[in-house]
Amino acid sequence: MRFDLVTLHPEMLVPVAAGGILRGAQDKGLIEIHLHDLRLFSPDEHGIVDDRPFGGGAGMVMRPEPFARALEAIAAAAGRRPYAVLLSPQGVRFTQQVAQDLARQPALALLCGRYEGVDERVVALCDLELSIGDYVLAGGELAAAVVLETTARMVPGVVGRHESAATDSFYSGPKLGYPQYTRPRVFRGMEVPEVLLSGDHEKIRRWREREAWRKTLRNRPDLVGLSLPPTPTG
Ligand code: ADE
Repeated sequence: MRFDLVTLHPEMLVPVAAGGILRGAQDKGLIEIHLHDLRLFSPDEHGIVDDRPFGGGAGMVMRPEPFARALEAIAAAAGRRPYAVLLSPQGVRFTQQVAQDLARQPALALLCGRYEGVDERVVALCDLELSIGDYVLAGGELAAAVVLETTARMVPGVVGRHESAATDSFYSGPKLGYPQYTRPRVFRGMEVPEVLLSGDHEKIRRWREREAWRKTLRNRPDLVGLSLPPTPTG
């Protein structure tokens, strides 16, 4: 699968593409990652990519032309039109299911906005406007990194069978993962639950099931149709 990321700050995404699971997936030939500097697609000789908003208001808006040109250049290089996604806080919510759907595309372009916003005609050029959550980042770069890694994990072969089964169990059912423990048996006075040392697989399975539901009700009651407290920290 081919990923093209279009951004004013490619330097933010270089380490993301260069390490960890994404490095391994590229080395195995399972994915390609191409970073593009949006400024290079500006029709303006000074590389200007933003302008004041029609109708007035504070801040600057990103112009549509550099994004349009970037998408055309990517389509030419990839030999096909990529599925184009604009990262923005106004987008539909990114989930594991969205990642799984995106991973079926042969080519995905992730466009990162900055400033106060992006000209709405960029949305029209894209197939999807996507938000990673209900908060506002300074730009789409970190959101693109999240979508890139999550989607790449869904490309067959990128993660081992064990890890992909664990992901499946997270997003196929409403409950979260169960608590995990490793050595030492006692850490700063906190003991590993006795049942995990019992060797009784049926008892362990039932304990994990119960603890997973307990954690779900405590941290994510919305997953089972209950309401969340206004803020967990308040
Ligand atoms: N750009 C700024 N905030 C964002 C968010 N929450 N998701 C995607 N892109 C963004």
